[in-house]
Amino acid sequence: MERRGFLKSSIFGAALIGARAIVPGAINSASGKSAPSDKVKIGLIGCRNQGWTNLEAFLDYPETECIALCDVDEEWLNKRAADLEKRTGKKPKQLVKDWRKIIDNKDVDLVIIGTPDHWHCLQLVAACEAGKDVYVEKPLANTLEECDLMVEAARKYKRVVQVGQWQRSDPHWDEAAAFVQSGKLGRVRTVKVWAYQPSKWSLPAAPDSNPPAGVDYDMWLGPAPKRPFNENRFHYNFRFFWDYAGGLTADWGVHLLDYALKGMNVGLPEYVYGAGGKLGYPDDAMETPDTLMATFKYPDFNIIWDHACGIGNGLFDKKEGLAFFGENGTLLLTRAGWEVRPEMTNSGRNFPYCYPCDNKPSSPVPRMEALAWRKGEGKGLYRHAGNTLKCIKNRELPSADVAIGATVAKLCLMGNISCRLGRALSWDNAANSFVNDNEASTLSKAIYSEPWKLPTI
Ligand SMILES: NC(=O)c1ccc[n+]([C@@H]2O[C@H](COP(=O)([O-])OP(=O)(O)OC[C@H]3O[C@@H](n4cnc5c(N)ncnc54)[C@H](O)[C@@H]3O)[C@@H](O)[C@H]2O)c1
Repeated sequence: MERRGFLKSSIFGAALIGARAIVPGAINSASGKSAPSDKVKIGLIGCRNQGWTNLEAFLDYPETECIALCDVDEEWLNKRAADLEKRTGKKPKQLVKDWRKIIDNKDVDLVIIGTPDHWHCLQLVAACEAGKDVYVEKPLANTLEECDLMVEAARKYKRVVQVGQWQRSDPHWDEAAAFVQSGKLGRVRTVKVWAYQPSKWSLPAAPDSNPPAGVDYDMWLGPAPKRPFNENRFHYNFRFFWDYAGGLTADWGVHLLDYALKGMNVGLPEYVYGAGGKLGYPDDAMETPDTLMATFKYPDFNIIWDHACGIGNGLFDKKEGLAFFGENGTLLLTRAGWEVRPEMTNSGRNFPYCYPCDNKPSSPVPRMEALAWRKGEGKGLYRHAGNTLKCIKNRELPSADVAIGATVAKLCLMGNISCRLGRALSWDNAANSFVNDNEASTLSKAIYSEPWKLPTI
């Protein structure tokens, strides 16, 4: 395939240059041509929404410069080029619809990948092969197999790969996780994680049509199955179609479940059961469940994911968040902050209250001190960009390193696969595969449409 030829010819040079700078145990420094004082030169692939938001966060740091923009949609490409010029006073040097030209651009140090999930793996692996550091959007990928490949590529080519799970750089999330690990909550038996999204409404069915003028639709589809254009499956709404993404579980789930794993200090579970479907909007166009609950079972606790589209009444009056239920108290954590609500006890009196004996319950007392709501500072994305830049310089692992992104993306995908198959699944961590379930294993694999090939590392 031409692409492989392209990668070999264009990337080989960069890989060799990079090889000079290998420091054992550290991540290899960027292409080797820039002095540490130089600006980090950014190329953005996928400009419309989050890709652009990410770029803006990087541009808040004076040591960055965006030299290249890429999007398959000319309208958004031109709009973002104008936005960039307005913001920085400079036009991007390179404006392209084919992302491979960004990879081929020797001056690009950092590639931001803001494309739909089905593209992340190909673009990330190519960028790593080319000796570039990467900021890639979450969820890391659309299949378990791709997640593993992406970790392998980052490690093999010694690249800094930051995943867009920006909570990892937002201090209050780590404060809350440290509190869970302090043991003060007592034994945590349940972690509930939820996203109730009144804004994720139904998607009325729409007929297939021609792609809008100026859109390279083949390049939008890429490795996904060929099909006629449909506006429902395009910008933003791709999230709700299995070919490109994993619905609300993968979209919101990776952000929040990441902290369930971090708080409990665990990786993937040995058992998952996901149940749900299109219960709210059975006739609309979305493929992914509008309602889903997944139980991830660990030896002595459960993590429960719960989402609903079109309903905003989440737990504790929060649309989304997570709650660690301990025997002494419950820690509630959201993007806005965190708090601890103590469990109440009857201070040693027997329960239940018995009459006419005088074993009257005393007034309840808290099992631990309450912690009032601690507001987060609300600069997670800005700090995440800063952490990426720091790691590009010092070659350390970033706060949402690719392996972190891979684990939580795989967790979410496992919940989705169980729900799609309608049965519980066992997972073997040592073998990195589902246990005795061919259908689940098939859904964990990436099947690419020609001419695209799953990268080999
Ligand atoms: N970290 C966060 O807080 C956060 C928030 C929103 C979205 N996201 C993630 O960002 C990614 C993009 O989501 P979005 O909402 O920005 O989607 P979007 O559809 O608004 O934007 C994606 C852009 O990528 C372009 N694109 C598609 N294929 C391309 C290709 N092969 N080459 C170049 N450009 C291509 C599209 O034309 C579009 O402009 C998703 O993975 C999503 O989960 C993360």
